Amino acid sequence: MKIRIINGPNLNLLGKREPEIYGSQGFEEYLPTLKANFPNLEIDYFQSNIEGEIINSIQEAGFTYDGIILNAGAYTHTSVAIGDAVAAISTPVIEVHISNVFAREPFRHHSFIAPHAKGVLAGFGLKGYQLAIQLLHESK
Ligand code: DQA
Repeated sequence: MKIRIINGPNLNLLGKREPEIYGSQGFEEYLPTLKANFPNLEIDYFQSNIEGEIINSIQEAGFTYDGIILNAGAYTHTSVAIGDAVAAISTPVIEVHISNVFAREPFRHHSFIAPHAKGVLAGFGLKGYQLAIQLLHESK
């Protein structure tokens, strides 16, 4: 089973960025632990601060992978184009947010991705990525 994790803008700064909201661990530091929990899965990871690169990565994995875990960061709330990319592909997408976006500013309550996603996990910290992989694995 092949799964791609895609992180959007500013998520390369996890560990340094607003640790009271996003925690103190960087994603690349967390990734080996995450992969070790699923030794039978092929998990790859892509991060970009650039909208078009995120779309390219969604399209690239979107017809051959078994699942995509997408944290599009702030583009979640602004990008019609990323929402369209998720609608266009056949691979199921789980939208993940580290923070509980619904407990934050109103502009974070709307997602252009959620209507096209299999589901949304928000507010569980980095554990959300693990839960998303588990859910994709179980629904296979
Ligand atoms: C985020 C929530 C977004 O609102 C924010 O812009 C991010 C991170 C999260 O993981 O909690 O960059 O997607």
